[in-house]
Amino acid sequence: MPIMIVGYEMDWESIVVNLITNASWALESKLAIDRKIKASIHSDGDNWVFSFHDSGVGLEAGTEKSVFLPTFSTKRSKAGEVIGTGMGLFIVRSFVEEHSGGSIAAISNGILGGASFEMVIPKASKH
Ligand SMILES: Nc1ncnc2c1ncn2[C@@H]1O[C@H](COP(=O)(O)OP(=O)(O)OP(=O)(O)O)[C@@H](O)[C@H]1O
Ligand SMILES: [Mg+2]
Repeated sequence: MPIMIVGYEMDWESIVVNLITNASWALESKLAIDRKIKASIHSDGDNWVFSFHDSGVGLEAGTEKSVFLPTFSTKRSKAGEVIGTGMGLFIVRSFVEEHSGGSIAAISNGILGGASFEMVIPKASKH
C-alpha cells in the first residue's frame, strides 16, 4: 500500500536530514560497532507512525519536551561554547504539526538505548 500523507517533499527531506544529523552527533562518543540507527513506519488505523531510534547518548533527563523549543541546544565545542542553533527539532516539529497535521514526541532512552522520536501523521486520501 502506498504511504500517502499531506506535506511538502522538501519538508520531509529536512525532517530526515535533521534527525540523521542529530543521531550522528549523539553517536560520536560510541564505538563504531555500537553505532546504530533504526527507522520504521507502521500503520495505526488512520495514521502512519514514523519511528526513528539511535543508540547514542540519549536525551538529557527531563528535556523530552524542551528539545523542540527554538534555540534549545546542548551541542558544545571542546572549549564549551554553544555550537548548535537549537532550531533543528523546532523546524521538524513545525513541519510535522503545521504542514502534515501530525504530532511528534521524543523519548530519552528508546529501544536502541539512545533517543527515539515518534511522529504520528494522519493518512491522506488520494483526492
Ligand atoms: N538523537 C539525539 N540524541 C540525543 N540528544 C538529541 C538528539 N537529537 C536532539 N537532541 C537534543 O536536542 C537538542 C536540540 O536539537 P536541535 O536539532 O533542535 O538543535 P541542535 O542539534 O542542538 O542544533 P543544530 O540543529 O543547529 O545543529 C540537541 O542540542 C540535543 O540536546
Ligand atoms: Mg540538530
